[in-house]
Amino acid sequence: MKNIKLTRQELLSLLADMSIEEKAGQLAQIPISACMEGVTEPTGPMAEMNLTPAQIALSGSVIAVRKIEAEACAQVVREITAMQPHHIPPLVMKDVIHGHQTMFPIPLAIGATFDEGVAEDMGRCGALEGAVSGTHVTFAPMVDVVRDPRWGRVMESPGESPLLCAKMGAAMVRGTRGNDISAPDRLAACAKHFVGYGASQAGQDYAPIDVSRTELYNTYLPPFQACVDAGVDMVMPAFVSIDRIPCVCNEWLLKDVLRGRMGFKGMIISDWDDPHQLMYHGVAADMREVSKLCIGSGLDMDMMSFAHLNHLADLVREGIVDESTLDAACLHVLELKNELGLFHQPVKNDSNACQESVCGNPEIRKAAFEAAVKSCVLLKNDGALPLKKGAKVALVGSHANEHAILGGWTLDADTESTRTLLESFGADERITLVSPEEADVILLATGEKQQDTGEDTSKAHPYLTAAQMEELRRLHTLGKPVVMLLFCGRPLVLTDALPMCDALLNVWFPGSEGADAIRALVMGDENPSGHASMTFPRALGQVPIHHDRLSAARPHVENAIYVNRYIDESHYPLFPFGYGLSYTTFAVDASADGQTVSAKVTNTGAVRGDTVVQVYGRLQHSRLIRPEKQLLAWQRVSLAPGECREISFRITPDMLRMYDAQGAAVEAEGLCDIAVGEDSAVPFSLTVPMN
Ligand code: BGC
Ligand code: BGC
Repeated sequence: MKNIKLTRQELLSLLADMSIEEKAGQLAQIPISACMEGVTEPTGPMAEMNLTPAQIALSGSVIAVRKIEAEACAQVVREITAMQPHHIPPLVMKDVIHGHQTMFPIPLAIGATFDEGVAEDMGRCGALEGAVSGTHVTFAPMVDVVRDPRWGRVMESPGESPLLCAKMGAAMVRGTRGNDISAPDRLAACAKHFVGYGASQAGQDYAPIDVSRTELYNTYLPPFQACVDAGVDMVMPAFVSIDRIPCVCNEWLLKDVLRGRMGFKGMIISDWDDPHQLMYHGVAADMREVSKLCIGSGLDMDMMSFAHLNHLADLVREGIVDESTLDAACLHVLELKNELGLFHQPVKNDSNACQESVCGNPEIRKAAFEAAVKSCVLLKNDGALPLKKGAKVALVGSHANEHAILGGWTLDADTESTRTLLESFGADERITLVSPEEADVILLATGEKQQDTGEDTSKAHPYLTAAQMEELRRLHTLGKPVVMLLFCGRPLVLTDALPMCDALLNVWFPGSEGADAIRALVMGDENPSGHASMTFPRALGQVPIHHDRLSAARPHVENAIYVNRYIDESHYPLFPFGYGLSYTTFAVDASADGQTVSAKVTNTGAVRGDTVVQVYGRLQHSRLIRPEKQLLAWQRVSLAPGECREISFRITPDMLRMYDAQGAAVEAEGLCDIAVGEDSAVPFSLTVPMN
């Protein structure tokens, strides 16, 4: 594929031949609808954007936020390419967050699989469908470490652990981009939101954050570093600020940290209209200053605020911005286009028929099904699951006949044709669907609405609704086993609901194959194996609550006073991070020999199943305080009844390295306490030396 790319010299010659207007134009992203008759974006009519045909012709990229057919997309690319003075094709970008047309479970659910292969598959399938539909670049993976279930965007992240975000994020990058993004089935990947967006205060979207540099280095940056190391093509600064300087114009963050320290060489794109926010912050007086600040701080492309498009060329001509600064930014855009092979092949597919035959093909649907099976978390089971053959089953609740089980960031999927639980269970001849009064067992499918998840869906009340609780109460009084199938994009506070459930399967938003995957689990064709990717709080007042919070003074001791505790609530969550049951049981017997931790894992039950063996650690001594418990490694193990397997992990000092406020490494020394088990509540039982 190499020969379809320009050489470095050809790229530099192209740059040298471009006018200032052309170079500034390459740094602008405009809506694809600006180039399509009769299509408008939800942000407002085109007239308000004041885009002239000349500006459209110079734009370096278009963003699509709705379904577009391959032929229509190809036409836009060809038109802009023809109009651009050097025939430079535009980049087509889209949010392919958890699948494109075939939806996988939401990323928080992918985190719950603890299976990097699943994350990679999701990236691969989304890229395949996205590329054949005309997209070049996806705004994924999102690797914000998330600890606050009030924040609706937790659904987009692999979870609360920096390591889980790092490993799953890197796997998504690998799956999305492969080794060569010019391949017909690949997309370029973008790590977002850089950085600390997950710390938005009180879980409110776009709210300020206050993250120290120490927390940046130790908690929020590592997932981005993992994506950079995996070859991520693009990075998107977050809507938030570090040191009171918005990330989008934070020179220290973008230049010193991202490019210098982390070694990122790709393109930096703003979030949607984020440069413009500098005016609301009062950081810039007008859009001209916005463009000047952003380009000077290291931002390359401006998504949808048109600051560069309207002002950057003037700023360069007037000598306020150096032309070399413009050149450097423009080169990042040209390099990405070249890596995608766009100079030789601006359009990867222009056939709707080809798009239709690839999207939703059986192999992709199978991968989505397997991801859904592995992501559901069995939180409680008093024996009501799996259902018995011949059972009379009531399937009720707000989500029993719901097509919208895909989760937020579903732009291209056909929600209305997504199978509902009633359609799936209704086709299963092993059971009979009846009313709750006639039933042996009641399945209550309930939870959040799809549109309650994703951007701008923060909640002050992350609970089941009053009506949903009322329905649960009513069903519970019938005196039959009630199995809750809980749809959610975040951990809900389930403390009041739990005692009324005989079993509780957390199904997140499971995606296109979700209904069949849930049925397979409920019927026992498949065995639940997901493990919570975020802590489930017992009370909202405990938030933020996560397994790896920093150690406290006067640490918690049960029934003691003047210790770290609540006087009116348990110290502990309802379900810890990493928690998840199975239809079988496992015994984990761990031992340590030097830095090698071994675990004999036995399936002690009657059916085959998977568990996730997790290793947590905490250094006994270090100059900096550390997480009470930190996920260091895990392994998913699949065992037949009675089968035993020994697995091992090497626990090395780099896993426990920390960074101080100056970003200097604090190497792990001495002894490290180790806990091995099936969730993060397992106590420390071993010690390994760090040197
Ligand atoms: C979101 C990004 C997204 C972008 C483009 C923004 O509002 O914060 O995550 O990639 O829109 O849709
Ligand atoms: C409290 C201080 C107090 C000291 C002596 C500590 O536990 O935090 O505020 O002055 O005890 O009573």
